[in-house]
Amino acid sequence: MSKVTINTLKEKKANNERITMITAYDYPSAGMVEAAGLDMILVGDSLGMAMLGYDTTLPVTVEEMLHHTRAVVRGAKNTFVIGDMPFLSYHVSVEQAVNNAGRFLKEAGAQAVKLEGGQEQVPVVKALVAAGIPVLAHIGLTPQSVNQMGGFKVQGKDKEQAEKLMKDAKALEEAGAFGVVLECVPAPLAEVITKSLTILTIGIGAGAGCDGQVLVWHDVLGITQSMKPRFVKKYAELYEETIKALKEYKSEVEKGDFPQKEHSFGMSEENIPKLY
Ligand code: KIV
Repeated sequence: MSKVTINTLKEKKANNERITMITAYDYPSAGMVEAAGLDMILVGDSLGMAMLGYDTTLPVTVEEMLHHTRAVVRGAKNTFVIGDMPFLSYHVSVEQAVNNAGRFLKEAGAQAVKLEGGQEQVPVVKALVAAGIPVLAHIGLTPQSVNQMGGFKVQGKDKEQAEKLMKDAKALEEAGAFGVVLECVPAPLAEVITKSLTILTIGIGAGAGCDGQVLVWHDVLGITQSMKPRFVKKYAELYEETIKALKEYKSEVEKGDFPQKEHSFGMSEENIPKLY
């Protein structure tokens, strides 16, 4: 597999080829994404909920994100890896945003960063792009603003909200973002936004009219047992499979059926210490 770069992604959009993206948070999962040949990995701050057991993404820190991004980059050398900027890592000042975003490229080896927000993030996006940091924006349902939105809800259903999302997308394009995630946006709106932009749109709960799709690792593989959002499709049932395997292991250990000879190391009789 040749290295996926920002140019590969732009060419895909130009050639009307769909772009594939999934979240991953560690070395082995990154290796599996690469083996499956997807274009992009998002080390999402969804790791706060999926990996660390928080109720929202808000507690996730830059250090936690960098730790996981490094592992993903080690596991997927040819996939385009994007590090997600956590809550309050780009909100205090443009300078703080450039410093934190730069760490994803400099210390973790990511190729780009993602951040949530529309027109209000234009100064940050411009500064990051000026510093040579590719930016994937994220509008619609932006989980870091869950308290302001009053829950995880579809965004852009009424005319006013829809026009705002269109303006956000345009402003982010003009600011230099190379793409924008559209999360939980009605499919017809996502399609219109996609057609009006030259940059990529990556949908999650935004229908088939986007340039690409992203889903969360645990949802795709059926690891999550909690609420399943409507836009998720499970491609495996790893929760069930894993529990089955663990029960079998427990039972074999308890019965003395594991380990067998083939799982053990032998030694010559005369080297075994005598007990009496
Ligand atoms: O954090 C994340 O995983 C995300 C995706 C769901 C787009 O933002």
